[in-house]
Amino acid sequence: QTVYLADYRPYPFDLGEVALTFRLAPSATRVISRFTLTPKGPAEDLVLFGDHLQLIRATLNGNPVTARPEGGVLRIPAADLPEGPLTWEAEVEIDPAANTALEGLYMSNGMYCTQCEAEGFRRITYYPDRPDVMTTFRVRIESDLPVLLSNGNQVASGPGFAEWHDPWPKPAYLFALVAGDLRARPGQFTTLSGRDVALNIWVRPGDEDRCDWALTSLKASTKWDEEVYGREYDLDIFNIVAVDDFNMGAMENKGLNIFNSRAVLARPDTATDADFQRIEAIIAHEYFHNWTGNRITCRDWFQLCLKEGLTVFRDQQFTADLRGAAVKRIEDALTLRDRQFREDSGPLAHPVRPSSFVEINNFYTATVYEKGAELIGMLKRLVGDEGYRKALDLYFTRHDGQACTIEDWLKVFEEATGRDLSQFARWYSQAGTPRVEVTEDWDDSGTFTLTLRQSQPETPDGVTKLPLHIPVVVGLLNPNGDEVLPSVTLELTQAEQSFRFDNLTSRPVASVLRDFSAPVILSHAQSDATRAFLLAHDTDPFNRWEAGRTLARAVLARLITEGTPPGADWLEAMAALLRDDSLDPAFRALCLRLPGEDDMAATLADSGHVPDPDRIHRARRQLQTSLAQHLAPQIPALMTAMTPQGPYSPDPVSAGQRSLKNTLLALQSRLDGGRAAQAAFAAADNMTDLTAALAYLIEAGTAGGALKTFEARYRDDRLVLDKWFMAQVVYASPETAAQVADALTAHPKFDLKNPNRFRAVFGVLSANHAGFHRADGTGYRLLADWLLRLDALNPQTAARMSTAFETWRRYDADRQALIRQELTRLQQAPNLSRDLGEMVTRMLG
Ligand code: ARG
Ligand code: ZN
Repeated sequence: QTVYLADYRPYPFDLGEVALTFRLAPSATRVISRFTLTPKGPAEDLVLFGDHLQLIRATLNGNPVTARPEGGVLRIPAADLPEGPLTWEAEVEIDPAANTALEGLYMSNGMYCTQCEAEGFRRITYYPDRPDVMTTFRVRIESDLPVLLSNGNQVASGPGFAEWHDPWPKPAYLFALVAGDLRARPGQFTTLSGRDVALNIWVRPGDEDRCDWALTSLKASTKWDEEVYGREYDLDIFNIVAVDDFNMGAMENKGLNIFNSRAVLARPDTATDADFQRIEAIIAHEYFHNWTGNRITCRDWFQLCLKEGLTVFRDQQFTADLRGAAVKRIEDALTLRDRQFREDSGPLAHPVRPSSFVEINNFYTATVYEKGAELIGMLKRLVGDEGYRKALDLYFTRHDGQACTIEDWLKVFEEATGRDLSQFARWYSQAGTPRVEVTEDWDDSGTFTLTLRQSQPETPDGVTKLPLHIPVVVGLLNPNGDEVLPSVTLELTQAEQSFRFDNLTSRPVASVLRDFSAPVILSHAQSDATRAFLLAHDTDPFNRWEAGRTLARAVLARLITEGTPPGADWLEAMAALLRDDSLDPAFRALCLRLPGEDDMAATLADSGHVPDPDRIHRARRQLQTSLAQHLAPQIPALMTAMTPQGPYSPDPVSAGQRSLKNTLLALQSRLDGGRAAQAAFAAADNMTDLTAALAYLIEAGTAGGALKTFEARYRDDRLVLDKWFMAQVVYASPETAAQVADALTAHPKFDLKNPNRFRAVFGVLSANHAGFHRADGTGYRLLADWLLRLDALNPQTAARMSTAFETWRRYDADRQALIRQELTRLQQAPNLSRDLGEMVTRMLG
C-alpha cells in the first residue's frame, strides 16, 4: 500500500502515439484506446492501471487479453506477451455522472470535464498512468454538445464530433477533455517569435462578463514569462475553462487549463481585491507550468516539488513584479508560517521531497508547494541572479521533453555556477522547520560578532538531521537609523558559526534574516525597544514589518499569559507608523494587523505553554480594542484619505488603500459596536468593501439585517454566496461557531457535492480558532461527522480538510482526548477512503 521513492524503476516500454475516442453519455461513456508499446529491453510484465472502469474488451496485437484487473492493476506476465512491439486496444465504460470524487472524467452542471493529476487518468482508461511515460495524444470526442475540447490543436470537427491532436509528448496526468454548452471570451497574443496564439476563456452562459480579468492576467503572464525567463508558448491555441465543481484551484493540462470557477471568474461587484490578486496569480501559475511542469515534467510523484516549488516561486516573482515586492514577500511569509510551519511542526510533517506515501493526493501540501518555492528562492540567493538565469537556461535546454528529478535540477545549478550544492540538497529530504539562534557580541575596539546556531527538530519520519546550508541576509544599522552595512548574505553551513564585522564606530543594531531569506524560525533576543527601533528604521521592508510582528506577538503573549496590558511604547510605535504617509498603505495595513489566534496558539505552544483558545481569543480582541482606542483620533481622516475615487479598479494602489481603510474600519468597529461598518455596508460599491463590512458586523453581533440583504442579493450567485456562508462561520463568536456551521448545512443552498460550498462551511471552521476548539468538543464532532459524509463522495477533499486536526497535540489533555476520540472514530469508520485513512493514521501517529 505504501509507495517508496527508493523503489523507482523505469517503465519497461516506450509508448507510441495514443489514440482515444470518447463516446460521451452521462452515465455510460465509452472510451476506446489504442497505442503501441515497444519493449526497451528484456521481457518484463506489462502493467496498466485502471480504476472504476468497466472493461468491455481488450486486445494485444488483436488477440483478446485474458488477464483480469486486480486492485487497480492489469498485469500481463512477460511470459504471455508476444515478442516485439505490442499494440494495445481496449474499450471501457465509465460513469461520469456518478463520479463525485471529481477525479478522471466527471460532470459538473451538465458539462463534462476532467482532472487527471495525479492519478486520475486511470479512471478514464487502462494506461501506464505515471508521469515518466510520455507520448503524443490524438483524441476524438463524440457528443451533441456544442463545445468539445481537448489538448493541443483541433484537427477536425463536424456535427457531433471533434478531433484534437497534441504534438507535444506528455504524461497522462496532463490530459484533458471538456464538453458542454460553453461561451468563449476570446483574446489573442503574439509571441516573441511571431506566433499568433488564440486565447479563450470558456464559461457557462451568463458568466461571459466575468472573464476580462482572467484574460488580462493571461496576457500579462505570457509576456512576463518571455521577458523574465525567455519562455515562449508553443501551441496556436490556449484554452482556459471555468468549472464549478473542482477539488482545488486549477490544473495546467497542456493547452487546456481547467480552473475552479472561483479562481477565474471576477467582476468588480462579485470579486474582492484578494480574489483579483489570487486569480491573477493562479492564471500565471498554470500558464507558467507549460514550461515548468509540462515541457519538463516529474519522473515520479516524489519529485512533485520539482514542478510545484518552481512554479510557485515563478508566480510569486510575477506578483512581486506586478504589485510590489515588499508587500508580496510579507504575504508569502505569512502564508508560509500559517500553513507550512504549522504542518511542519505536527504529525503531518514531511520533507519537500517525501520518500514514501500511501495516497499522493495527500502530498499537494504547503510543504511541497510553499516550502518548495522557498528552496528555489534560497538557491537563487546563493548563486545570484545571473547564476540563477544561467542555471535555468541550462535546465530548459538540457531537460526539455524529459521527466526529471531533484538531482537533475540541482545538477544544472552546480554546472552552471560551479557551486557545490550537496549540503543544500538536504533541504529536500529533511522535514521540520529549522531554528536559527542569534547571539551578538560587541567589542569596543569596533568589532561586532554575530553567532548563528542552527538546530533541526525531530519529525515523525525519524530521519537523522544534519546541518543545512542556510542563507541568512543581514544588515547593520547605526543607532541613529542609518545603514552601516547594507544587506549581505551570510552562509550558515555549520551547526554554529560566527561572523565578524570590523571597523565600526559604535555598536550597531543587527537586522537578521532580511527579506525572510530562509524558511526558519529565528530566535534573536532583542529588547522591545530595539524592535521598535527596527520597526521605525529598518531599511529592509520585510524586517521592518517583522520587527513589528515580533513585538506584537510579545505584547499579545504577555496579555494572554500574564494579563499585562500593552505598553504606551508599542501603541505609540503603531500610531507613528500609521501617520507615516511615506509608507505604502498596504504595508501599513499589514503592520496594523495583529497575529492571528492560531499563530498565537503556535507561539505559546512553542514556548512551552498550553494554549487556551478562549483566553487567546479574548486577549486578542482586547488588544484590538486598546489599539483602536489609541488610534481613534487618526482613524476617520485616514479612512477618508484611503477611499479610492472613481470606479472600482483592482490595481495594487487602490487595493492597498482599501486594505488600510478596511483594517481601520475593523478597529473602529471595536469602538462603536459596528455603527461605522453598518454605514460602510450600505455604501459599499464593490465586493471588497462589502465583505469587509459584513465581517465586522458579524463580529460585532449586529449583522442580522446585512446578512439578509446579502443573501437576497446574491442567492443565485454561487461564488458570492460562498462568501456569505464563509463569513458567518469565520466571524461567528466562539460560542456559536459550530452551531452556525451546523445550521448552515440545512440551508437549501448547502451542497455536499460542491467542494467550494463545503469548504465555505467546513474548510473554514478551524479558521475560527476559538470556535473550533470549543471545550465541549462540538466543533470537533461536527467536523468529523461531515468529513465522514464527504469522504463517501469525495475522499480527496475530505482528506484535505482533515488537516484542521493536525495541531491537536498543542492543546490541553481534555481537548486532546476529545480530538483523539474523533480521529479514532474516523479511523474505525467502515469504508473509509485511502485518502482520509492515511491522514487520520498519520495524525494519530
Ligand atoms: N498541478 C495543479 C497546480 O498546482 C494542482 C493539482 C492538484 N492535484 C491534486 N490531486 N491535488 O496548479
Ligand atoms: Zn502547480
